[in-house]
Amino acid sequence: MTEYVARVPDANGFIDYPPAEHAVWNTLMTRQLKVLEGRACQEYLDGIEQLGLPHERIPQLGEVNKVLAATTGWQVARVPALIPFQTFFELLANKQFPVATFIRSEQELDYLQEPDIFHEVFGHCPLLTNPWFAEFTHTYGKLGLSATKEQRVYLARLYWMTIEFGLVDTPQGRRIYGGGILSSPRETVYSLSSAPEHQLFDALDAMRTPYRIDILQPLYFVLPSLKRLFDLAHEDLMALVQLGMQLGLHAPKFPAKIKAA
Ligand SMILES: [Fe+2]
Repeated sequence: MTEYVARVPDANGFIDYPPAEHAVWNTLMTRQLKVLEGRACQEYLDGIEQLGLPHERIPQLGEVNKVLAATTGWQVARVPALIPFQTFFELLANKQFPVATFIRSEQELDYLQEPDIFHEVFGHCPLLTNPWFAEFTHTYGKLGLSATKEQRVYLARLYWMTIEFGLVDTPQGRRIYGGGILSSPRETVYSLSSAPEHQLFDALDAMRTPYRIDILQPLYFVLPSLKRLFDLAHEDLMALVQLGMQLGLHAPKFPAKIKAA
């Protein structure tokens, strides 16, 4: 499915990326920091500052772990490119965020079949320093671990509409906190434009909203504040999953995939 192979650390846990891969990181980070101004939520920007991510090279996971351990007790865990749902939930339930240690090629700066280290570390790790976001992600992992296959699909939609593609209202205006948006310059600009729909966040609606991973999202859910994630982590989400399963999916807001001839 993919030509990308995760790099393996040496005996000291150090991953030696070639210069061309560091250059891709530098290009992505420089470009994205510019476009995030006035668009990313403050908690994310605070996390960027705390992590102190290098601009000129791909960070080592150990560097990220030092900061995450000191802030919320989270860690990043090195994984091969693709992991099963079960492993994903096990990791999150143990406050470990999976990171595949490969980076997209220069030819694919904007297109990505699978999440790479830029998406995971630049997109998600800054908010893992935030206690509200960290708590929600942890709860999600624990719920997913004990959920059935069918329940997991509803939880996965909630994850998609929050951790990956969530927006949030702040005193400064509407901002982005979803890592899927924050690691994509195109979606960063598009998500806050008038092109897509914005809906006030509702957990049940989010779970019932179908999505496609290969297009810009037609609809984004907006939290009233980032703290809503912490409150959500302490609500009965599995009862909502059950209700969602009874009610079924909303009609998709995207066109059906065109079948190859
Ligand atoms: Fe992600």
